[in-house]
Amino acid sequence: MPDKSFRVFATCDIGQPALEILRQRGYQLEVYPDADPPPKSLIIEKVKSGVDGLITTLRDKIDAEVFAAGNGHLKVVAQLAVGFDNINRADANVHKVPFTNTADVLTEATAEFAFFTMAAAARRLWTAEKLVREQKWGTWHPFLPFLGDEVTGKTVAIIGTGRIGLAMIKKCSGFDMDILCYDAAYQNKDYIAAIQRVMDLRFDTGIQKQRTTIRYVDLQEALSFSDFISIHVPLIREGEGGTPTHHLINDKTLRWMKPTAYLVNTSRGPVVDEVAIAQALKGKRLGGAALDVFEKEPLPSDSPLRDPAIEDTCRLYPHFASAGRITRLDPHPDKGMAGRCVQGLIDVLEKNYGGDIQQMPYVVNKEAFKRD
Ligand code: GLV
Repeated sequence: MPDKSFRVFATCDIGQPALEILRQRGYQLEVYPDADPPPKSLIIEKVKSGVDGLITTLRDKIDAEVFAAGNGHLKVVAQLAVGFDNINRADANVHKVPFTNTADVLTEATAEFAFFTMAAAARRLWTAEKLVREQKWGTWHPFLPFLGDEVTGKTVAIIGTGRIGLAMIKKCSGFDMDILCYDAAYQNKDYIAAIQRVMDLRFDTGIQKQRTTIRYVDLQEALSFSDFISIHVPLIREGEGGTPTHHLINDKTLRWMKPTAYLVNTSRGPVVDEVAIAQALKGKRLGGAALDVFEKEPLPSDSPLRDPAIEDTCRLYPHFASAGRITRLDPHPDKGMAGRCVQGLIDVLEKNYGGDIQQMPYVVNKEAFKRD
């Protein structure tokens, strides 16, 4: 029986059902009680005091300072998110601390949110509802006071074809869309070929009227020929390894887009240059944007994205894409982020998989634990 009197500090309440799993196993669990994240100094203090495991969210900066404070006794960082750009992977590797994430369980929720916000922006649902609420709905009219753009049958660019990008492709293919894919790092040609077969079948059986296609193209082609652009890449800053994605969408790449195009970002804020987006919307070089993530969160009051001049075309959401009840809180590791987060923590602390970190499904930085 492994020693289960592990000490764990959670920087955030991840829901009682998942936390109960740890308590029932005898863990000494301390949960930071506030909704806002703890200051880094508190995380360091807790780590210094000898915790075995940390439960973190994307709001916590976990870097060399935190790992050094762990001084050999910090055994795992379990992140409640698929993205982990807040955790310095190189520093984790130097200190040989495995960290886990909650990939997979939020894939469909995030992709459906991207799809819904894309459609809501194009059909101007927010502006339309405002009309009713503000008593500005005069009468039914063929085109006044405004019209929206349809999604069905249009072309969408999927920028990044990891799990969430592929799930977005699946949803877009159900709306008879042509799909242009771009990914600098990874091309899932089998998945794309399977979607093409489904598209062909839908056309051959009369389920969709137009034949549609899906293919990988370069970034410029994807952005230039699409009516919708949905971003699904991780945030990679210069020098972090791999092709950087910081400000992938900037003044230059925005100018490749059609002036009627809609941009959707559910990945990470710094992947897009917010000033450039605000300017493109203001200059009517971009049809609309639906943004769920920002360079600074919560979105500052002086953000150019709050400019009243672009209010109708710029939809803003509070990093909400994975915010479904089951997706966020279900304690089952195959259903909820909370469940997967605690399972990742347990795997490392209790040395599941014979203690072989290579075999632990939720550990991200496996490279630091290669056996010679
Ligand atoms: C949310 O943004 C996540 O990375 O899970």
